[in-house]
Amino acid sequence: MQTTHPASLEQTAASGVPDHGETSKASIRMELKHPLAIRWMHWVSFPVLFTMIWSGILIYWNNSDNLNQHPHRVYRVGIGKFTLFRFFPDWFYKLLHAPPHVTLGLSYHFFFMWIFALNGLAWVLYTWLSGEWRFIVPQRKSFREAIQVTLVDLHLRKGLPHQTKYNGAQRIAYTATALMGAMMLFTGVAIYKPTQMHWLTSLLGGYEMARWLHFWVTMGFLGFFIIHVLQVVLAGWNNFRSMVSGYEIQPVSAPSIEAERRRAK
Ligand code: HEM
Repeated sequence: MQTTHPASLEQTAASGVPDHGETSKASIRMELKHPLAIRWMHWVSFPVLFTMIWSGILIYWNNSDNLNQHPHRVYRVGIGKFTLFRFFPDWFYKLLHAPPHVTLGLSYHFFFMWIFALNGLAWVLYTWLSGEWRFIVPQRKSFREAIQVTLVDLHLRKGLPHQTKYNGAQRIAYTATALMGAMMLFTGVAIYKPTQMHWLTSLLGGYEMARWLHFWVTMGFLGFFIIHVLQVVLAGWNNFRSMVSGYEIQPVSAPSIEAERRRAK
């Protein structure tokens, strides 16, 4: 591999501009993978989601009797009368040192929900207006691709399918976060203002149902978060760094994200 200034690597490989021999043997290039706005909104979402889940746990504690009675009988995993796991067992609160502090939980929840909503809306709007949605919205082949990617991750198959910015599994997962975010907001508003927004609460199946959905979509976010961070660790430093600096180093033979952006314009 020839060592060259990153800018010239990018220019040579991504734009195809001839470089009179000096960098023509370069085997890597540096490309803008994540625009600045996406990186900002992405990193804002992490502490905000964390605070929403944390304060949600403080609120949930309020009327959960963790010793014997469990008024929230619906928040469990089980079949019929058999319960495998109840949300949440006593040890869980002890482990997290979560104090029974519903007012504190509500204050955080009602403040950070605005940032969660505005950040999520800004991401959807930016992604739509900038054309980045083309990399995120699932395509017809994404579902087949997602199965292939899962099989590769489980070491049951070799060779990832061809991709530019995101593979099918990522497209589905990232689009799901937008849908889950919308569901969080709708169910949240339905239980925040059940009188004023009674039509929304009714549409979602009533107060208890909206609350149940709010809880399970949170579990969905938690599931996404665990798998997402695990995949990021497995993908390695180059991929992680791209969400901080914006740029990723790629072999020149890899499909160019920038070229695809230009083609779409
Ligand atoms: C420690 C926490 C996190 C780390 C280390 C992390 C890391 C990353 C990285 C490296 C990417 C780029 C993947 C790639 O280029 O292949 C990415 C994309 C993404 N992450 Fe995270 N992430 C974290 C938390 C979150 C959270 C909390 C959410 C949302 C609930 C989230 C949602 C997303 C989405 C939607 C994308 C695609 C963004 C776009 O292209 O518009 N991430 N993340």
